Amino acid sequence: MEFNRISAADAAALIQNGQTIGLSGFTPAGTAKCTTAELAKKAEAEHAAGRPFKVSVFTGASTGQSGDGALSNAQALDFRAPYTTNGDFRKHVNANEVNYSDLNLSNMATQIRQGYLGQVHWAIIEACAIERVGNKAHIYLTAAGGISPTICRLATEGIIIELNAFHSPKSKGLHDVYELQDHPFRTPVPILKAGDRIGKPYVEVDADRIVGVIECDVPDEARAFKDADPITTQIGQNVADFLLGNMRQGLIPPTFLNLQSGVGSGANAVLGALGQCPEVPNFNIYTEVLQDAPVQLIRDGRVLSASACSLTVTNECLCGIYDDFDFFADKLVLRPSEISNNPEVIARIGVCSLNTAIEVDLYGHVNSTKICGTRIMNGIGGSADFTNNSYLSIFTCGSTTKGGTISSIVPFASHIDHTNHFVDAVITEYGVADLRHKSDMQKAAELIKVAHPDYRPLLQDYLDMAAKRGGHTHHVLSAAFAMHDTLQRKGDMRLTDWAEYIK
Ligand code: COA
Repeated sequence: MEFNRISAADAAALIQNGQTIGLSGFTPAGTAKCTTAELAKKAEAEHAAGRPFKVSVFTGASTGQSGDGALSNAQALDFRAPYTTNGDFRKHVNANEVNYSDLNLSNMATQIRQGYLGQVHWAIIEACAIERVGNKAHIYLTAAGGISPTICRLATEGIIIELNAFHSPKSKGLHDVYELQDHPFRTPVPILKAGDRIGKPYVEVDADRIVGVIECDVPDEARAFKDADPITTQIGQNVADFLLGNMRQGLIPPTFLNLQSGVGSGANAVLGALGQCPEVPNFNIYTEVLQDAPVQLIRDGRVLSASACSLTVTNECLCGIYDDFDFFADKLVLRPSEISNNPEVIARIGVCSLNTAIEVDLYGHVNSTKICGTRIMNGIGGSADFTNNSYLSIFTCGSTTKGGTISSIVPFASHIDHTNHFVDAVITEYGVADLRHKSDMQKAAELIKVAHPDYRPLLQDYLDMAAKRGGHTHHVLSAAFAMHDTLQRKGDMRLTDWAEYIK
């Protein structure tokens, strides 16, 4: 070992109260895990001794239980950005115990460079290999690109490496590391096709900035997906039919578009269903998160090349990629999040975005992040990076959730992440609401068609009442959240009478 070898506890001991750590990874994939787990123990010990101890955390996107979970349970988090899916973290954020900033993922590294988020003291990076070349160190990342190049360059105290033997060094060619320049000297990103490589396969730093290397063997903290069910399968079929219809009409090119698919079980199932549809041509993927279903599509030859920021896959799937890396080497590329989610590239190469909504309102505004407008679910992730710049932007969702007690189509979204200017279509198991070339009132009619039958009369009643008030977009403001209010009071959105809400 040419670098200073330390333990995770040694690394945690270096990190002081009030400092900021930058973590490798994007979703639990590729995230440094050992140091944060020890840091949570250190925080608990410090608190027990009556001393304050909190750190701020910057990452590419989520971390796992040993990061966001352990640190939030230990009350060790001051500020945290951006996206996260961890259940424990969610609980602490919704109890207002953490300063959580939900940022567009393409912008995270830029905001660090701009200094908007303050100083990064430590970069903690998971690697599958590290090599010394003269006075430089080449760090080979594991299952995600995230913000690693930026935090490695900017960390003022140094870089801690978690050399994780779980990730095979065979995957050394997986990454294409390229960092955007500072404004106003930023140049176009020279990616012309999803699979293009424009950078280096490693993060290069001055070797003397590596403070220590922790040797470990820890699996990724990936989540298992819910299996496809009849609803997600039907949504997938509806997406495929919609895209094929668009191709036949010449609305999308016969070569098809690069596909982006969002995060979660629904998105995984939709992409799986699309791949199964024989009429959909073989396609390329330009996305942020690659889940299990598209990895299988690469194996099947349905996906020709895939560009992503992370392999957010089950450990079984990840090990399969490492085992067959010769097959995947020229078909799969991982990039830093500012490149995988780069608005300029997305707008230029032609992407069809497929993201999952929490709720959509009658005029096509989408809530991706907040339950009943107040409780954060995960965050906006890269959904706006893709939606706002796509050739065709689609949101999918089941028409209801929680056993039918919640409708995904509501009169007024209780929080809006994506305005209807950027939303081209909303697809549920009941069909496609094609919102293009429609007025707001025409959009409402389309959206009622894809709502669950239990809720269609309610939504139509609302619209009829609202129409009497006039305007370009019709609303009865006192009743706009009546379904949400009824859910909170009675546990079910199916209100029986609008009268009490009409003022
Ligand atoms: N009200 C209350 N709960 C709701 C809800 C609503 N309107 N809509 C969904 N939920 C709940 C579900 O019931 C489920 O709860 P559970 O975990 O207790 O079962 C949970 O939210 C997740 O929903 P699910 O239907 O399983 O979907 P998913 O796993 O596909 O995730 C999002 C959906 C919206 C949470 C997820 O896609 C996300 O975080 N999106 C935002 C970021 C994003 O789009 N990133 C991709 C960019 S590349």
